Amino acid sequence: MLARFITTLTTTALFSCMATAIGLPGLAVAEDSGPELVRGEQLYALCTQCHGADGSGNQAALAPAIAGLPAWYVKAQLEKFRAGIRGLHQGDRGGLRMYPMSQWLRTEEDREAVAAYVASMKPTDTAETVAHSGDVARGQGYYAVCSACHGMDAGGNPQMGAPPLVDLNDWYLISSIEKYKSGIRGNGPGDTLGPAMIGMVATLPDDDAIRDVVAYIKSLKKK
Ligand code: HEC
Ligand code: HEC
Repeated sequence: MLARFITTLTTTALFSCMATAIGLPGLAVAEDSGPELVRGEQLYALCTQCHGADGSGNQAALAPAIAGLPAWYVKAQLEKFRAGIRGLHQGDRGGLRMYPMSQWLRTEEDREAVAAYVASMKPTDTAETVAHSGDVARGQGYYAVCSACHGMDAGGNPQMGAPPLVDLNDWYLISSIEKYKSGIRGNGPGDTLGPAMIGMVATLPDDDAIRDVVAYIKSLKKK
């Protein structure tokens, strides 16, 4: 595992250097944006295996799209994983993969740098993956409750600690809501914001309601 990561890191770092040398624009971008982003880009080599070089995620690895998530939220989640507040429940298949990764970011500076880099990435187009998608109109009704924290446009609200939802994958929105519903997420020791979400998903009575609200959230992107 360790060797594999070091190889990934080295390969990516090498590739990055080569890309800069031959002037590939996309990969050289962080060079102009200060030392934190450069460090963040280097650290992000640890993440590409699952979240992709462009942050678009990989459903087969259960890893969501993270490109463009705000730095405050990414940092907060990295700290939750690291402290075992998130991702250690035995029923959390995705979280159990992410938990060990969070241990790689040892200092607050590193967590801030990688969070800044993730936030600087352009959100990717998260295609619909769910076969039976929900009813947008019914979903709008369910979303009324959510908008108080996540915003009318699902763009998030840092004052409430509520992340943007609009760029998340449909499958990840569904799995996260299901995890809150079953207490697999939001119930970790010392979680202050998670329990609020557990209360909120109680307003979604069944699987259809979950699909409806997710269909509505995803429809906001197209507006
Ligand atoms: C081995 C695969 C793997 C690697 C490597 C990995 N992750 Fe993850 N990550 C996941 C999975 C799976 C989840 C989804 C957890 C869940 O379902 O709750 C996740 C979730 C996250 C989340 C939460 C997203 C959200 O919307 O709440 C963040 C932030 C994140 N990862 C950042 C990173 C960063 C930064 C790195 C590199 C330091 C990294 N990950 C490396 C698998 C991985
Ligand atoms: C009282 C404020 C509040 C309300 C209302 C609320 N949420 Fe949340 N939600 C949060 C907070 C805070 C978080 C982040 C929790 C954390 O830091 O672990 C969150 C996280 C989430 C996540 C995980 C996002 C990710 O990137 O992993 C989803 C999905 C979500 N909420 C959906 C909803 C839906 C759907 C509703 C309406 C049924 C809703 N929320 C209502 C505050 C709220």
